[in-house]
Amino acid sequence: MTVQTSTLRSIAGIVNSVETMEGAGFLVRRPFPKSSFSEFDPFLLLDELGPINLKPGQAKGAPDHPHRGFETVSYLLEGRLEHKDSQGHAGLLGAGDVQWMTAGAGVVHSEMPEAEFARTGGRMHGIQLWVNLPQADKMMAPRYQEIPAAQIPTAYTDDGSVAVRVIAGEALGAQAVIETRTPMMYLHFTLQPGATIVQPVPTTYNVFAYVLDGSGLFGAESQPGEDGQMVIFAQDGKEVAIANPASASQPLDLLLIGGVPLNEPVVRYGPFVMNTEAEIMQAIHDYRNGRMGTIHA
Ligand code: FE2
Repeated sequence: MTVQTSTLRSIAGIVNSVETMEGAGFLVRRPFPKSSFSEFDPFLLLDELGPINLKPGQAKGAPDHPHRGFETVSYLLEGRLEHKDSQGHAGLLGAGDVQWMTAGAGVVHSEMPEAEFARTGGRMHGIQLWVNLPQADKMMAPRYQEIPAAQIPTAYTDDGSVAVRVIAGEALGAQAVIETRTPMMYLHFTLQPGATIVQPVPTTYNVFAYVLDGSGLFGAESQPGEDGQMVIFAQDGKEVAIANPASASQPLDLLLIGGVPLNEPVVRYGPFVMNTEAEIMQAIHDYRNGRMGTIHA
């Protein structure tokens, strides 16, 4: 008989991204949803846009479209995006900025490259995460939390080999400024070659890492994962370990995302995610009848 002394989570699986076209025709890498893997409760979608070098006039966005029943979290790493919605809200996202939009009962919005950026072209890289809302919050009033890069708490290990930007939750003593409806973590780690992190995670959380750049070793069994892969941790410990081997030629850049599963029925139809078919029909009806509003120029 062996005694289990490790509190490190093991790896439940590695998921490759698929490439898919979104919005007006831009390419994203998407680990989920796909036919074999529809959600990772409480998360509904993860898209990585770019990194891509756009020529003048080449940048495309997502023109007017609705959302109901969940949250969209946009994290821009490079480039410039403009946002407008049916509530008269407008904003500009630059490198490092986060927009945590709680669609709740419904918004119609557009997510487009900023006009000057689209004209000149440049490098674009962004992440969108969809976070499900619990039944009790699905019809809440829409809410925005827009956090400029400089206000995202950032922390480093003493030797400087690990940096973390804390979008939700906490890491290396830094606490997020964004509030979430259910307990959640969204951490952006950068590990220099030879660096290791052991990040505490509540045992109730579903947790995954998504590799933005480089490659590394994940979990109790040091399983390899690389750029564009989603690494799913088993729910079998209270810490996750991630390492960038000393032999690596570049930093390991990754998102570590986790949250308490809602364990509620999920019925999704494009931009609407509810608990029942009837609620989806209602969402379509409300959208068609202008109850989610329209964007005024
Ligand atoms: Fe959207």
